[in-house]
Amino acid sequence: MLQNFPGMEEKNGELMIGGVSAVSLAEQFGTPLYVVNETVLRKNMRDFASALSSYEGGGRIFYASKALSVKRILKIAAEENIGADVVSEGELRTALAGGMNPENIMYHGNNKSEKELAFALSQGVGYTAVDRPEDVYRLAALSKEYPHKIKLLFRIVPGIEAHTHDYIRTGSFDSKFGMPIEEALPLMQYAKAQGLCVAGLHCHIGSQIFETEPFRDAAKLMMQFLKEAQALVGEDACILNLGGGFGIRYTEEDSPLPPADFIQNAVRVVTEAAKELKMKKPMLFFEPGRAIAGTAGSTLYTVGGVKKTKVGKTYVFIDGGMTDNPRHALYDAQYEAVIANRVSDEATQKVTIAGRLCESGDVISEGILLPPAKEGDILATFSTGAYCFSMASRYNRVPGAAMVLVGEEAPRLIVRRQTAEELLSLDL
Ligand code: LLP
Repeated sequence: MLQNFPGMEEKNGELMIGGVSAVSLAEQFGTPLYVVNETVLRKNMRDFASALSSYEGGGRIFYASKALSVKRILKIAAEENIGADVVSEGELRTALAGGMNPENIMYHGNNKSEKELAFALSQGVGYTAVDRPEDVYRLAALSKEYPHKIKLLFRIVPGIEAHTHDYIRTGSFDSKFGMPIEEALPLMQYAKAQGLCVAGLHCHIGSQIFETEPFRDAAKLMMQFLKEAQALVGEDACILNLGGGFGIRYTEEDSPLPPADFIQNAVRVVTEAAKELKMKKPMLFFEPGRAIAGTAGSTLYTVGGVKKTKVGKTYVFIDGGMTDNPRHALYDAQYEAVIANRVSDEATQKVTIAGRLCESGDVISEGILLPPAKEGDILATFSTGAYCFSMASRYNRVPGAAMVLVGEEAPRLIVRRQTAEELLSLDL
């Protein structure tokens, strides 16, 4: 199983992550502990960038930092010449603190306040996705005070159904994001008349998608829309941002395509469409989040014990749970796990990995096979790099877990563990 998760291997019966013993990480930094493998992270970024590099129209990868917004991670993205998609002042500040060139930042959000748009302008952010007309009105008003020309990409709902969880599906007409093309076109004309920089279109159809078809359909449709837009506002609107959403492996049953395939598929569709529609090839942007951070991350826990219920269900209790990984509770997500200190032991017991929080749904994985676990074991879950730390909560006043970077240099703490006192200190 380990061979399916990059950077994971077995040595003397123990789990190694990026060449470092998971048990020693747990001893040194405590648990729960997020572990990010820098080698895998950089490879994921490079795979995307290199897949796009041969496209003649040019383009850029923006790391969707909502997946894992941590200063050091954004610094690595900046070093790899990857941009960042941000959705809040907090994510923007994190990208800037990581040394990201503001010109390579894309500001998103379906309800951006005037204050945050003003902050984005003051920082020289390169792009923003116009999610609704108010964004244009606000930017037009702010343009008097802030001369910086932010480039506008109009977020379109293409009306494409992607097969994924309802909560992470965004391309359909009832989505809270974006607008249909017929609404976007007059808005683009209006924005241009206001002197704003109308740079192109955006769409994002959803997340954790395995099929290539919805991406291809979206790319084709968006090319037609871009042609219509250019007829109205001119060929300066030459950017097509096709968002993120590329699925990754969480369990052994998942078999995602390599990132390069998704990009190359889109590139092919766009190239053909440009020829058919007699258009110049647009500049192509993509915004992968999960497919960059997901497989680079894992989480270590200490097992507190095992409980067998009257009806025969076996729980393995860990010292974290939905506060560091809410994805089972939210989306029924499943994770593979191993006992890091006995990684070669045969997985013979069907168990539910449950956390320490006061909620029955506080589960990480339901009905997975593990070797019989016991108190003090170190349990590792895989593919937790995306949307775990970033969606963590402080339920039951459990402080935030620490994060450590491995793989390239000696293990390095990149997020310090929070304390209960720090949480309490916000209360007045
Ligand atoms: N671009 C836009 C505009 C987005 O809204 C998103 C994700 C992405 C890019 C990146 O999508 P990715 O490549 O990571 O699939 N919390 C959920 C996922 C929510 C995704 C929200 N938007 C989860 O844990 O599955």
